[in-house]
Amino acid sequence: MATQEETFKKIVAHCKEYGFVFPSSEIYDGLGAVYDYGQNGVELKNNIKRYWWDSMTLLHQNIVGIDAAIFMHPTTWKASGHVDAFNDPLIDNRDSKKRYRADVLIEEQIAKYEEKIQKEVDKARKRFGDSFDEAMFRQTNARVIEHQQKRDALHERYSAAMNANDLDELKQIILDEEIVCPISGTRNWTDVRQFNLMFQTEMGSTADGAMKIYLRPETAQGIFVNFLNVQKTGRMKIPFGIAQIGKAFRNEIVARQFVFRMREFEQMEMQFFVRPGEELKWFEHWKAFRLKWHKALGLGDQKYRYHDHEKLAHYANAATDIEFQMPFGFKEVEGIHSRTNFDLSQHAKYSGKKIEYFDPELNQSYTPYVIETSIGVDRMFLSVMCGSYKEEQLEGGDVRVVLSLPPVLAPVKACIMPLVKKDGLPELAHKIMDELKFDFRVQYDEKDSIGKRYRRQDAIGTPFCITVDHDSLNDGCVTLRYRDTMEQDRVKIEDLHEIIRRATDAKELYRKIVGDKLEDTEE
Ligand code: GAP
Repeated sequence: MATQEETFKKIVAHCKEYGFVFPSSEIYDGLGAVYDYGQNGVELKNNIKRYWWDSMTLLHQNIVGIDAAIFMHPTTWKASGHVDAFNDPLIDNRDSKKRYRADVLIEEQIAKYEEKIQKEVDKARKRFGDSFDEAMFRQTNARVIEHQQKRDALHERYSAAMNANDLDELKQIILDEEIVCPISGTRNWTDVRQFNLMFQTEMGSTADGAMKIYLRPETAQGIFVNFLNVQKTGRMKIPFGIAQIGKAFRNEIVARQFVFRMREFEQMEMQFFVRPGEELKWFEHWKAFRLKWHKALGLGDQKYRYHDHEKLAHYANAATDIEFQMPFGFKEVEGIHSRTNFDLSQHAKYSGKKIEYFDPELNQSYTPYVIETSIGVDRMFLSVMCGSYKEEQLEGGDVRVVLSLPPVLAPVKACIMPLVKKDGLPELAHKIMDELKFDFRVQYDEKDSIGKRYRRQDAIGTPFCITVDHDSLNDGCVTLRYRDTMEQDRVKIEDLHEIIRRATDAKELYRKIVGDKLEDTEE
């Protein structure tokens, strides 16, 4: 059995080999934590975006989309708090000259205690077999208790230091825990200091010098600054939402785990504007809705969990993450935040404009409260890849690598294959393709044996293979092969369209989320 680490390496290699993800500017040895999506990756990514966009703007009459610019007036970031507070705590090792996030070093130390506990548990399970009582073992085993106490004490000290923004204490924890630099192996650490994650550039040039501007670190602010524009021109009534998909940039210090933490990435964010006092009700609503959206894809309900935030940002009154079980543990894919009226109030203050909503039912004006749902496209992509990648042992010893992608997201929906390159079979295969190609992304493949062609499609997650043989010329039927079961059916050519539509139509997933109502945020 491959370890989780080995599996993850294989997924990364698979992404490259099959045209999903390439390192950016690879011929120049790449650029740290920046990636390009290849011919299959871009299709999968576009399908993820479509699934999200339609679930917001088609399912909800009261959610509209925008596409704001990446460059924004620099005061935006002063108002939002990013100039002063969008920081990570940094520490350098003087010997290796390597830079680390102090919080990450400590979190890794916490994870080490957890791993030690897990090792003890696994060992005991092997020893005791079926009669093993894990809960009892955790409560009574001396070594487990000791590791657990150390882990809890460290966690408590670390949370307190982060909450108090106490950089000296973070350094002291690193020293007390005897954390060493993985490169030099020494404890020769500098002090911890704050590092702002925003990329800066300059715009224009005037006699007084160019204007310093930032690449946006989140798309949300483009929505807030357009609140009045959209509300007035769209005659939107509260509650309503504004959705946006776009690039965001962060100068991440610790950029690791492939597309999980990138310096240039993409977000899908929706800000839902509500009456003050009603925000927690809507927070619960969106929390539930978003989890259903994830689960409807069928990657396995047990792979998701909520992680409620203990430490809230100063402007939030509730926050939770939706985490997915990656090969490197449960990790945040999406954040749902109750952001109060902080952002709109700040923009009103810094711009001097009145940013309020007149509520005709209450006959009063107020600054709306906001529930935000924020998901990274690239993390979603990674979760889908990790949840779909499988190596299956076949009879005869062969291994089949298959991506069991949710059909709605698969880059290619069907591949049409003439059994041989003659006797009129390619012509019929092309005819079938011409009938399908305007509604579905389909491929044509006539090279190599049918078995090899199936494997190529399995590796990119194509749900259907359609084989045209000599009988097809007479009976108007083809062989339809299903990716996941490898079963084959003889079906009529005229039925193909409906079979593929039913399996790949997002509408079927939306019904799983909201039933037949297809609308669930109207009051
Ligand atoms: N507007 C709120 C916001 O930006 P966040 O938790 O910082 O909140 C939201 O980011 C989502 O964006 C995360 O859940 C994650 O999916 C994605 N994300 C954040 N930083 C990322 C990075 N460096 N690389 C890839 N995705 C990232």
